[in-house]
Amino acid sequence: MMRVGILTGGGDCPGLNAVIYGALLRAFKEGSVETVGIKKGWEVFAMNKQDITPEVVKRYTRVLDIGELDNLHTQGGTIIYTSRSNPFKAVARLKDPKEKEEKSREIGQDLASKFGLLGIDALIAVGGDDTCGVAAAMYRFAKARICACPKTIDNDLAGTDYTFGFFSGTQLASDTLDNLKTTASSHQRVFVVEVMGRDAGWLTLYSGISSGSDIILLPETPFDFRRDIVEVLKARASAGYKYHIIAFSEGAYPTKESLERDFTVISRKDIDECPRDVFGNPLLAKLNLASKIAKELKKREDLKKHFEESDSNYEVRDVVLGHTMRAGSPGVYDRILGLRYGYHAMGYILEGNFGKMASLQGTEIKPVDIIEGAKKKLVNPQSDLVEIKEMLTAVKYKSKKQAR
Ligand code: F6P
Repeated sequence: MMRVGILTGGGDCPGLNAVIYGALLRAFKEGSVETVGIKKGWEVFAMNKQDITPEVVKRYTRVLDIGELDNLHTQGGTIIYTSRSNPFKAVARLKDPKEKEEKSREIGQDLASKFGLLGIDALIAVGGDDTCGVAAAMYRFAKARICACPKTIDNDLAGTDYTFGFFSGTQLASDTLDNLKTTASSHQRVFVVEVMGRDAGWLTLYSGISSGSDIILLPETPFDFRRDIVEVLKARASAGYKYHIIAFSEGAYPTKESLERDFTVISRKDIDECPRDVFGNPLLAKLNLASKIAKELKKREDLKKHFEESDSNYEVRDVVLGHTMRAGSPGVYDRILGLRYGYHAMGYILEGNFGKMASLQGTEIKPVDIIEGAKKKLVNPQSDLVEIKEMLTAVKYKSKKQAR
């Protein structure tokens, strides 16, 4: 009987259990396959071989019996846990490209050689660019019997039209942005709402457009505080609007010029020295830029005066959506997409089609090379959606006076 491992790495996201269930359904269909959950992402793989004792293997593995996991695709989170453990941590610190390559080869081969210890013949790695990057290195340097499924609410993987988790996360963000309008309008407030997504603006773009946010700021298009926030708020107040929702991507940042001219509570140094996680990604949420924007806005006497003259309150609040965006059960789209990714990834493993990532191409699930698939995908500032976002903002304050 073939034993196929499955692990979930990186931040959790709605649809992880759907992928696991999809893989189990395929294993059930094919027969002669046992699916083994490897708990907590890469954590056990990152251990030294001599520490991976039979007790450790028992602690970190769980044979997944489909009969006991009825309708697993409907549940949020991951039953096999996740972590941000990174076996390539040592590589991230190296500067010399040759040294980096050598160390990556050494680690990739070491990781692939742990399949036997963990009692698996092959592995499905479910994760974002970090997790898929580890899988890609294992395939590249050791031809490991591995495939991947593209997970992340951030939707920032190049090889697929959509990652699973994105539409559930973006729906949660859109609902909150929508709901905040009643509080914002009752108090006549400006809300700066920080949306997750790291250095990719997909979540903010989709949830901001869908909820009809008044200003939408993305990491891909650095903003000018004066032009893109202050002046827009003034124009909106003049047009009669009494409340304003700013959808602010956690990775959005001001232009160099605006940073120097308009900011007193954050400097270039704060942005450059932002703390990083074990994969070397800047922990953007730590900068808490939305609260800094709110602070700067509160200090603006010109805005205060302008709002008063426009017969409006001037109150500013910031809200961080944070982990509420990854919480709860997956939406329909992610349940289906997750099931399909898992089903196909198990298929690739059983066909011996290793080194592949299941991807969505139009409406079909197709295998793509993990190395290519795991590359970064950012919002294209020239895309129709960015144009729509800009028109959405522009048309409002240029339009008719709003009801009081
Ligand atoms: O990558 C997914 C994500 O939710 C990002 O949008 C966010 O910046 C990060 O993870 C938060 O990570 P953690 O859950 O480790 O705080």
